[in-house]
Amino acid sequence: MVFSGRVEASEVRAARVSSEFIIARRRAQLLSAVNLWSSRTPPKLVAKDDRTRSERTCDVLVVGAGGAGLRAAIESHDAGADTLIVCKTLLGKAHTVMAEGGIAAALGNVDPEDSWKVHFSDTVVEGQNLSNWRMAEIFAKEAIDRVYELEEYGALFDRTPEGKVSQRAFGAHTYKRLCHIGDRTGLELIRTLEDQVVKRGVTVMDEVAITRILRSRESGNATGALGIDIRTGGLILFRFRALILATGGCGKVYQVTSNSYESTGDGLALAYRAGAKLMDMEMIQFHPTGMIYPIGVRGLLVTEAVRGEGGVLTNAMGERFMSKYDPKRMELSARDIVARAIYSEIVAGRGTQSGGVYLDISHRGAEYIRNKLPSMYDQFIEFAGVDITKQKMEVAPTVHYQMGGVRVDPESGETSTKGIFAAGEVACGLHGANRLGGNSLSDILVFGRRAGAAAAVFSASTVAESVDDAELEKEVDRVLAPLSDKPGTNPFWMKRQIAKNMWEHVGIVRNKADLDAGLAEVARLGEAAAEVRAPGERAYNQAWLDTLQVSDMLLVCEAIIRSALARTESRGAHTRSDYPRPDPKWLANIITVERDGKMKHELEPVPVPPPELDALINRE
Ligand code: FUM
Repeated sequence: MVFSGRVEASEVRAARVSSEFIIARRRAQLLSAVNLWSSRTPPKLVAKDDRTRSERTCDVLVVGAGGAGLRAAIESHDAGADTLIVCKTLLGKAHTVMAEGGIAAALGNVDPEDSWKVHFSDTVVEGQNLSNWRMAEIFAKEAIDRVYELEEYGALFDRTPEGKVSQRAFGAHTYKRLCHIGDRTGLELIRTLEDQVVKRGVTVMDEVAITRILRSRESGNATGALGIDIRTGGLILFRFRALILATGGCGKVYQVTSNSYESTGDGLALAYRAGAKLMDMEMIQFHPTGMIYPIGVRGLLVTEAVRGEGGVLTNAMGERFMSKYDPKRMELSARDIVARAIYSEIVAGRGTQSGGVYLDISHRGAEYIRNKLPSMYDQFIEFAGVDITKQKMEVAPTVHYQMGGVRVDPESGETSTKGIFAAGEVACGLHGANRLGGNSLSDILVFGRRAGAAAAVFSASTVAESVDDAELEKEVDRVLAPLSDKPGTNPFWMKRQIAKNMWEHVGIVRNKADLDAGLAEVARLGEAAAEVRAPGERAYNQAWLDTLQVSDMLLVCEAIIRSALARTESRGAHTRSDYPRPDPKWLANIITVERDGKMKHELEPVPVPPPELDALINRE
């Protein structure tokens, strides 16, 4: 990638998104009510070589506490399953909050012509025909009920003058479809679901990192998982009948991303190592607009709602360049198109001095902006000293989302390994080659709920099985191995190298030479990873956790690059300069699976919709 930035040391500031402050404050308020184990169990420190494990048993283990995990846990609990949530950071700190501008559902409140049928068509068309039609159908139909349910749970949506849930425009949605709470929709969604989890008394084990899913020797079903209690460094063996992966995405394998610390792709690695199939891993979404300076906040999301509310993109020459790339939809074109357009302007030397383009909403007036985009106003004032009611923002693409992920059954979220379900960004199938803005929030509610229900049914009809002890002991060896004061490779350095490699070689526009170079670097870093060491004690040892994440991240990078090499065409978010057009022979999903310890690829033709649904798809 070629974004060269004017970044001066004086501009470098430790930055945290404002939503994190809000979450931290709310967490303090919630502690008295929530069934949060960290507020109850006093930490007991653990010796470095201690192999003992405490044990927790439940029917359904939910890994991840973003929107998908919380919604899944609510459903599983309500279906009668003993449900336990684990998450590796603090409750409420999830990438869900970065879906700011709204949740997409065809309520038809502002544009009465809208319907689930048009939403279905938009989703499949912008997914460039790689989406699973059945997932898109379920999604478009059920998103409507999930929004109303969220409202019943207590979410405070913005209103139309008649008092209905307000809906705004977003890129490539035919109608105004994004129900919103200012530009803090994801945050309100998390708040609302957390309240429901608290109300039900579901236990949340925060600051627990799952390192491996363990299977039964007899059936091969997933029956257990090894975790680290981050507070003490102690090991925990979880025993369950069903597990739901809701771990989010892998944006942190890139240097410039809207994702925060959590999004290292661990769910993908956990699934793959437990024998589940991954799909379309090459499909990484670059959100067109991330902040570009100061460097401490580079990549931080500038919500699409800015363009939805009338924001205009211009280059350094003052040209409204979207007229060249999508004259009809302009700034409200699909994300892949706008991101490529911005990239092209920058590469052609028409970028700003900081290496971005301009985004201007000031013509809407101060009151309107502060009302509709309060977080953006605060974010730019606080981090960049820019008043967006008067001044232009400078923006450039930032890695935001993975369309690829764990292959799931459309109805239930069940993966190809029995006992493992997946929902949300970690799962694959709905968004094809390009996700529409706002579809992720409805995705996590629709498929989180379905995975929770299916996991509860599965657990009720399954006998508890023991884990494979040999597999467990092997995993304990692996987890404890890096704990050493001997000199070795620094895990923080490794993470930086991984992210730099992906940014430089697997960016918006790809080609074989770059991808080959990226893959070679992954192999080289893989060798260095064997020497990664984590000095110090086990409690709150970030270097130790990062060491384990490095191996997950390298696995994810390899899967992304191998799939990107395999797909010799350009489709949606996957652009190959050496194969610039879509190729009908590539109407196929690329499956990544482990065979005899090696990463292999298989092709599956994209399922063809039945005629009555095919007829709904507006291919014009
Ligand atoms: O731009 C945004 O507000 C992001 C929304 C999304 O990714 O769905």
